[in-house]
Amino acid sequence: MSIRPYFRPRRLRNSEEIRRMVRETQLSVDDLIYPLFVTHEMTSKAAIASMPGQYQLSVEALVAEVGEAQRLGIPAVILFGLPKEKDALGSDSYNDGGIIQQAVQAIKETVSGITVMTDVCFCEYTDHGHCGVVKDNYVDNDATLELLAKQAVSHATAGADMVAPSGMIDGMVAAIREGLDDAGFERLPILSYAVKYASAFYGPFRDAVDSSPQFGDRRTHQMDPANAVEAIREATLDVEEGADMLMVKPALSYLDVIRIMKERFDLPLAAYNVSGEYSMVKAAAQNGWIDEKAVALEILTSIKRAGADLILTYHAKDVAQWLG
Ligand code: PBG
Repeated sequence: MSIRPYFRPRRLRNSEEIRRMVRETQLSVDDLIYPLFVTHEMTSKAAIASMPGQYQLSVEALVAEVGEAQRLGIPAVILFGLPKEKDALGSDSYNDGGIIQQAVQAIKETVSGITVMTDVCFCEYTDHGHCGVVKDNYVDNDATLELLAKQAVSHATAGADMVAPSGMIDGMVAAIREGLDDAGFERLPILSYAVKYASAFYGPFRDAVDSSPQFGDRRTHQMDPANAVEAIREATLDVEEGADMLMVKPALSYLDVIRIMKERFDLPLAAYNVSGEYSMVKAAAQNGWIDEKAVALEILTSIKRAGADLILTYHAKDVAQWLG
């Protein structure tokens, strides 16, 4: 073999122009879904200590934030609510005067040109912090289904454009689809958190919405981080039940699962770059240990390269500006 290589991949890295021409993955503002927290409190913006740059927003501050996201070209937001009162059933979540319902109505009165998604789950609304009705220290699957449908219909009635069930309750997509259709919302899409792991990366989020389970954990419904084949089964069921889009969550430790989903299913695929992934980048950047912009863009590009079409990320506004 000659000491002079015949093939030189470096030729296609000669300049930024050439690198741009052969670049395989493009991150775009169109890929972004921006998660936001809305609270019944009147204080306009309360910083979330464990998620630098993220806030619990009053309804008014939320409307302003959604307007800003829209101006930046972000196509969608997803809302999480902090209710005034938590109770055993999480009734604020399906109450027509609940925090999410108020928030969606207020956005719809003021801002257009941005899709409003709502997270459909109970953990932010129950006093025990679990994702549904609890019986004998266990999340009762079928008792939860009926309330999930009720919650989704209530969000839709308030004006939500899409609902995203996140509880990993068996049959949740079918129950919500049926509830929506019965209420005349057959055009409303469902983004299912089809493959959601019992992950420690949700820690900062649970601080943000005060949704840590008061006893036990979520391992009887969320998936075991060690499993990938099971993800195919979970997603297959959600497709059969009528999901319009699928999600893998978290993203960074599950890039292999994102790739499997992309190869096996023909629905648009979202990945959730969750709170712990975000806060690690923020903390390291604040210490001067990494370059925040470069690392965030590299992470999001890797999630897209793995196969995600859409990314839920707290970096959304920054990314829109960096790419803009
Ligand atoms: C459940 C829900 C969770 C997240 C989104 N929806 C928390 C959980 O399952 O405990 C986590 C999001 C994040 O960590 O950024 N409503």
